[in-house]
Amino acid sequence: MRVLRWAACLAIAAIAMAWGVLWLAPSIGDKTASFGAVSVGGPFGLTDHTGRHVTDATYRGRLMLVYFGYTFCPDVCPTELQTVASALDLLGPDAGRIVPLFITVDPERDTVPILKDYVALFDGRLIGLTGTDAEIAAVTKAYRVYYAKATPKGSTAYLMDHSSFLYLMGPDGSFRALFRQGMSADDLAKGLRARLAG
Ligand code: NI
Repeated sequence: MRVLRWAACLAIAAIAMAWGVLWLAPSIGDKTASFGAVSVGGPFGLTDHTGRHVTDATYRGRLMLVYFGYTFCPDVCPTELQTVASALDLLGPDAGRIVPLFITVDPERDTVPILKDYVALFDGRLIGLTGTDAEIAAVTKAYRVYYAKATPKGSTAYLMDHSSFLYLMGPDGSFRALFRQGMSADDLAKGLRARLAG
């Protein structure tokens, strides 16, 4: 288990470093869907927590704040989703211009009813999205999300190691900003407000 955790940490660190390099790239000021040659985001087709089929076009006209995780996540996901909920509260009426999306990396367990109960724990505005393995594979690839199943020794239940970023996409679906894990609700609200104004 310790070895697995280290492997996961290293993988996540490698992804964070890759993001760091992208983050510092000269093209960072370019508010298009790409960092140089690396595109982030794109079309998706998924099922929301009410069982409705949705696509990225469903949310056009509003900004999408996208987070990838899974409902069985013991620590990081609940913390991040709480931060999102608190940041939306801080934004007041402006929060209506943002659609918060929680996309599962664990479609095997995160069925529509499970997602429905889960998002309700955080915020009535939060939309949970699941899909087939192929649909989740496609959307995670588009957003450059790392995820992998990990079963702790002596456990029958598995965990999902996953990267943890908040992606802000514009009203046209193009990439706008990336927020790191562990931001305070205040800082996230400030970051969102700046992009809403810009
Ligand atoms: Ni998580």
